[in-house]
Parts: sequence; structure tokens; C-alpha cells
Amino acid sequence: MNPRVANIGGSIIREVAAKRRPGSIDLGLGEPSLKPTARYLESATRWAADNGLRYTPNAGEPELREAIAAHYAYPGMSRAANVCVMNGSQEAVFVSVMTLLDPARDEMLVVEPAFPAYAKMGRLHGIDVRTVAMDAANDFAFEPARILNALTERTRLIVLCSPCNPTARVVDRATVNAIAGELERRSAPVYVLHDEIYREQTFTGDAGYFAAVYPRTIVTNSLSKSNALTGLRIGWTIVPDDLSDAVVKAHAWVTSCASTFAQRVAAEIFSEGALREHVAWYAEHRAKVVTALEESGLRFIPPQGSFYACVKLPDGTKSLEAAHSLADRHDVIVIPGIAFGDAFEGWLRLSWVSPISDVREGVARIAAFAAARKPSASAPV
Ligand SMILES: Cc1ncc(COP(=O)(O)O)c(C=O)c1O
Repeated sequence: MNPRVANIGGSIIREVAAKRRPGSIDLGLGEPSLKPTARYLESATRWAADNGLRYTPNAGEPELREAIAAHYAYPGMSRAANVCVMNGSQEAVFVSVMTLLDPARDEMLVVEPAFPAYAKMGRLHGIDVRTVAMDAANDFAFEPARILNALTERTRLIVLCSPCNPTARVVDRATVNAIAGELERRSAPVYVLHDEIYREQTFTGDAGYFAAVYPRTIVTNSLSKSNALTGLRIGWTIVPDDLSDAVVKAHAWVTSCASTFAQRVAAEIFSEGALREHVAWYAEHRAKVVTALEESGLRFIPPQGSFYACVKLPDGTKSLEAAHSLADRHDVIVIPGIAFGDAFEGWLRLSWVSPISDVREGVARIAAFAAARKPSASAPV
């Protein structure tokens, strides 16, 4: 067997999420609880009945590519040719990493805490993956100096996710400008992969987008989170001209094309400009979640984006053990911070899309668990 596959770990997120029982308080998987709008699916079904479900061109239906490119209108990347339609943003990241990086030479830098798939994908391709951790004392804000200081001569790609899974931090414009400005000055090219999958769950007014200012940006995104379509598996890359043909070529050899049915659904959504149809729900729900967290007494990172909130465990508490205890003994499913890198040990990620009564109850159980684990709570008086 390929030793790279044999040596790579499975998903801690899935391992803990699998403990969910009927009636559990589920703050685990990062999956919207809303239902998708049926109209798009119905319309795609009618189209498929009339036209069949044949392969599309490798890069996707030209009208959909054009709609995606025009919707974001990133400078230098606003033509259909800059878009490749993918089977979810998971494939978008995979193909981008595979296309850009030479395993014999290049290194990718993952900004942590991070979605675990980035490093795993890099390592599956035999690429040296380095990580740079943001600072807990600064609530894991994206810090330009930390990121830039971690670059080496071999770094060809920086991968970051904003709004961030897991920290719920959003990179601001000043940070994007600072990183972009410095990268422009370097002689060797460094690309930034900005995973924008939680873009429609942004709760700050100052979000920065690398593609808006930095020409060597690769954007990955999908309809999974914005339109509650995780199972449809439809996403895309937006890349500069110098990468577009190569990305399509790699994607074509991996999956031929994205699902034709899913592309029809996406075409409906883009034609109605409906990417923000769930935005109000998230904003309202988030406000209630923040109140519940404030009342809990737990230390938490104020959520600026995504649909996660992260809480700190008492010092010395291991997050994996805590997540298993919470699942086994308190019937609450949460994801241990260690799944997102060593820097996030001692934290838990809560996905807050469940009904607010469940979120409140889950937060209360975590707070009780944490209070019982505080060193002073068990020390003899
Ligand atoms: C940060 C991040 N990127 C990418 C993905 C992959 O999403 P999809 O392939 O459904 O677009 C996820 C899924 O949870 C995610 O959280």
C-alpha cells in the first residue's frame, strides 16, 4: 500500500461525531441544519428529465463558470476561464494543491488552527507541510508577522480559511493587505489559497479577501454551507490565468467533471443571486449563541464568522478525552481542538446550528463539565 496513505490518520471529527445517539445534543459536525430551498432542486430535476444527465465539459458548464466568475468579480479572475467547477470545495482544495505544488521541491504552509484536510491532502501528495499557529492569547487572530515569519525559501503556498473553521475568526482587510504587500516584494512566487467556504456566514464589516488585492490567490468555495447543500457536492476554484488550464487538466483526470445535476442546481442559485438566502438566520442565531456563551462563564472566542464557537477547557484538560467524556457521560457531541492542530489543544469546537435550546443546554453541560475539572474544584480545602 502507498505508505503515505497507510501512515495518515483518519478523521478525529468523524470519530467523535459517530458517538451521537438519538437525543444527543449535537454540536459536532460542521453541517447546516437548515433545509435547502426545494425550488432549485425541482427545477434541476425537470431540466434533467428533459435533457438527461450527460457529462459536462471538464471545467463545468460555461454559463455556470461565467456566473461564478461574474458574481465574485475578482480582479484578473473575473472570466469564465478562471473558474473550474468541482465536486465540493474539498476537491477544489485537493486539485489546487496537486496542481500548484511540486513534491520534490515545494512546501505548503497551513495557518493553524486549521481544517485538518489541508495538511492531510498535502501529505497524501508527498508535499512537505509546515504549520504556523496563531496565538491563543490573541484569540487566534490572523497575525501577518507570524504568518510571514514562518515562510521559507521553499514555501509556494499559504493555506488559510476565513471565516475560519474552527476558530470563527475573520481575516480583516489590514491583515490581508499586510500579507499581500510583503508577498509582492518577495522574488519567489508565493500563492495564497483562501478557503472562502464560510463567506456567507461573516458577521464583521471588515472582512478581507486575498483575491481582491493579491493576484496570486486561489479561491475555493462551494454551496455546502451557504445554501445547506453539503450532500450535493458542488464547489469551485477561482484561479489566476497562469493556473487555469492546469487546474482544469488535473480536475479532469481526477473526476472528469462535477455532477451535472449539481451544476444545474448551482446555475439556478447563481441566476437568482441566492447565495445569501440563509444569512439572516445565521446572524440571528449567532446573537443568541453569544448570549448563551456569555452567560455560561466559559472562556470563548467571540465568533466573527462561520457557524462555530470555540470554548477553552480548564488548563491541563486534554480536548480529545474531554470530547469523549462529554459524549459518553453527558450526551453532548463536540469536536476536540486537537483535531485542528497542536495549538488548539485544550479547546473545544462547537457547531451551533442546532436549535437554540439544544445549544444552550449543550453549553450548560460543557460549563458544568469544565467547572468540575477546574483544579481548584477537586483540591481539598
Ligand atoms: C474549512 C472547510 N473547507 C472545506 C470543506 C469541504 O466542504 P465541501 O467539500 O462540502 O465544499 C469544509 C467542510 O466542512 C470546511 O469546513
